[in-house]
Amino acid sequence: MTEHVFPDDFVWGSATAAYQIEGAAREDGRGPSIWDTYSHTPGRTLNGDTGDVAADHYHRWREDLGHIADLGLDAYRFSISWPRVQPGGSGQFNRAGLDFYSRLVDGLLERGVRPVATMYHWDLPQELEDAGGWAVRDTALRFQEYAAGIVEALGDRVHTWTTFNEPWCSAYLGYASGVHAPGRTEPAAALAAVHHLNLAHGLAGRVVRELAPAAQLSVTLNLHVIRPASDSAADLDAVRRIDALANRAFLGPMLQGAYPADLLADTAAVTDWSFVREGDESTIAVPLDVLGVNYYSSTLVRAWDGLSPRSDADGHGKSAASAWVAADGVEFLPQPGPYTAMGWNIDPDAFTELLLRLHREYPGQPLMITENGAAFDDVVGPDGVIQDDRRIDYLHRHIAAVAQARAGGADVRGYFLWSLLDNFEWGYGYDRRFGIIRVDYDTQVRTWKQSAHWYRRLIATGRLG
Ligand code: FCB
Repeated sequence: MTEHVFPDDFVWGSATAAYQIEGAAREDGRGPSIWDTYSHTPGRTLNGDTGDVAADHYHRWREDLGHIADLGLDAYRFSISWPRVQPGGSGQFNRAGLDFYSRLVDGLLERGVRPVATMYHWDLPQELEDAGGWAVRDTALRFQEYAAGIVEALGDRVHTWTTFNEPWCSAYLGYASGVHAPGRTEPAAALAAVHHLNLAHGLAGRVVRELAPAAQLSVTLNLHVIRPASDSAADLDAVRRIDALANRAFLGPMLQGAYPADLLADTAAVTDWSFVREGDESTIAVPLDVLGVNYYSSTLVRAWDGLSPRSDADGHGKSAASAWVAADGVEFLPQPGPYTAMGWNIDPDAFTELLLRLHREYPGQPLMITENGAAFDDVVGPDGVIQDDRRIDYLHRHIAAVAQARAGGADVRGYFLWSLLDNFEWGYGYDRRFGIIRVDYDTQVRTWKQSAHWYRRLIATGRLG
C-alpha cells in the first residue's frame, strides 16, 4: 500500500457515547431515558443486555482519561446524558450530573486533549417520550433549554459542540422500524421526528453561537452511500428515493435551508409535512464549523419487482416494520463481503466516494470523521495479547480512504475512531465489540488490543504505511 502522510494539524481522536459506557444508571440523581426503558423491555436487546453498568465509565473516568492520554489522542468525543443532567427533560438541572461532565472536560484539558461533546446520542429522558417524544414539537423546545443549561455550565471549555449524533437513527430506527428506543413503528411519527430533530439542531446551534462564541459547532450524520443494482431507470430512482430519506432529509435543511421537494412528494401519502412551520428551515440552517460524518459500510438497492420476497438487508437490524418510510418499492440487497461481526460489508472505496460527494455538493464545508471502526470477535491469547488484525486492517483501509479523499480536495480535518472502549452496542448488547481497548465486563479491567498500539503509533508519526 502507498504511504499516506497526514499533516500535524490533522486531529486524531476516538469516540464514545454516554449510555454505551457510563453505567451508573440510577446514581446521583440520573433520571430514566428511553434506552433504559427499551433495554429493560424483554426481547428488545440481545441477551436482554442493558446499559445499567456498561463499562462503568462513570466511576472509572479517571482511568479512562489515562488511556486517552497514553494513546496520544488530540481530541476525545463523548456524549452528555440528558437525563443525567436534567432528569425529567425540563426544568431543574442536576448539579451532580453537570459536575461529572465538568470534571471530565477539565481532565481532558489538563491532558491537552480537546473535548468534543455531543449533546444527544439517543438517550431522551423518558418523561419527554411519555409526552410524545421526537414526534412532537415541544421536544425540540425542551432540547433548546437543555442545550442552554449545558453550554452555560461547560461553555467554551468544550472545543466543539455537536448537537446530534445520527438523527437518522433516532427518527427512523426509533419511530419507524422500532429496532431502537423508543421502539415505535409509526411512519408518520418518524417523519415528524426527522423535522423536530432538525429543528432542535438549529435551535441548539444558535444557543452555542450565543453562549459559547469561541466554540466550534457541528452535527454528526450517518450518511449513506447508496449504490444501484443496475443502471436501469427504476434502480436509479430507488437510489434517489433512499438518498432523500437517508441523506438529503438532513443535509437539505441543515446546509441549504430547505427540505428537498422530491422527499416531500415521495412521502405525501404518509404526511403533508404541516409540522414544518414558517421560518423553521432557516432556523435549522445555522452555519456549521464542521460537518461530522460517521461511516461504516455501504448500501445496495434495487427497484422491487413486487413478486419475489423483498430483500431487506439494509444493515439496520431486523424488524417487520421498515425503517424506510414510503419506500416499499425498494429492496436492499445483500452485499459482497468481507463483513465485520455486525454483518456489515467492508467498502472503503465508498467512504472516499462519500467524502468527495460532500466536497462537490457542499464546497467549502469542512468535514470531520466523527466515527469509523469495526466490531470483530476478539480472541484473548494465552499470553493475554489481543491480536485484532482484522480491525487493524479495517482501520488502515478506511484511514487510507480518508487520505485519498483529502488528496481529491475534500477538506477532512480529522478522524475519530469508534470506539475507545468495548461498550453497549445498542440492540446487540455486549456481544459486539468495537473497542480498541478491551473491557472485561466481569472485572471491568481494560486491556489494550493490538489496534490500540497500532493507533498510538499512527498518531505519533502521522504516517500510514
Ligand atoms: C453508530 C452509533 C454508535 C455505535 C456505532 C457502531 O451508529 O453512533 O453509537 O453504535 O454505530
